[in-house]
Amino acid sequence: MPIFTGAVFAGNLLRQIVVTDGLFSPRKRLLLYVGCTRTISELPLEASGLACGSASLKWRAMLATMHGSLEEVRRQVEKCRSCSLWQTRTKAVPGEGATGGLMLVGEAPGRDEDLQGRPFVGRAGKLLESFLSAAGLSREGVYITNAVKCRPPGNRRPKSEEIAACRPYLLEEIELVRPLAVLMMGSSAAYALLGKRSVVSLRKKEFTVQGVPARVTFHPAAMLRNPALRSYFMEDLLAILHLMSTKGTQN
Ligand code: URA
Ligand code: SF4
Repeated sequence: MPIFTGAVFAGNLLRQIVVTDGLFSPRKRLLLYVGCTRTISELPLEASGLACGSASLKWRAMLATMHGSLEEVRRQVEKCRSCSLWQTRTKAVPGEGATGGLMLVGEAPGRDEDLQGRPFVGRAGKLLESFLSAAGLSREGVYITNAVKCRPPGNRRPKSEEIAACRPYLLEEIELVRPLAVLMMGSSAAYALLGKRSVVSLRKKEFTVQGVPARVTFHPAAMLRNPALRSYFMEDLLAILHLMSTKGTQN
């Protein structure tokens, strides 16, 4: 039976409900992320009081409906106009894949992604899949997303302000996917999550983003241009898998 221990608000928007679950060890908190669409006045009375106590089935049902979901992020992204990239997109490209494992963050959709509405389905994607498979992973077994969700015209680099406008979706994805580790591929992903761009100086270091262990590597498209980078990418992929397995077993 879940026990409510509190809730986290940003202004009057409910961001998180914190419960402990009888199924988990008492010290482990189960966080339910609620998305940012509800205000206190829309919440049931008990929630705005932040009372602690046992959760009833009714509560659980209410929480389930309030729970922010990746589907909701997808819907928001598809209708988003927060930066000017919406004007030239064919399809917005939300992230996709498995939750609770490795999360890969690229730069921005290219031409193929823009047409299909899916990340990493072009040449860079094929190369990425070959690396995943060499490391014993499948595309379906990881979560793949981008720093910006709409294609910049002519595949130019996304601008800082576009990355900033799109960052809330990326952060929301991290909250909802709850990955064991995040691999930032390329300078735009690093900028989105670390505020720094230099892949060469960020490689080989360990970071924490939203509480998740993270590393930086080259972008797959950079490997298409410069095959010498491939061995570095593989090294970084194996390093993040190692990090994932060691941090993952500490809990
Ligand atoms: N490059 C990216 O950064 N993302 C994609 O989805 C495809 C290519
Ligand atoms: Fe919105 Fe991101 Fe697309 Fe800009 S790139 S319009 S912020 S979804």
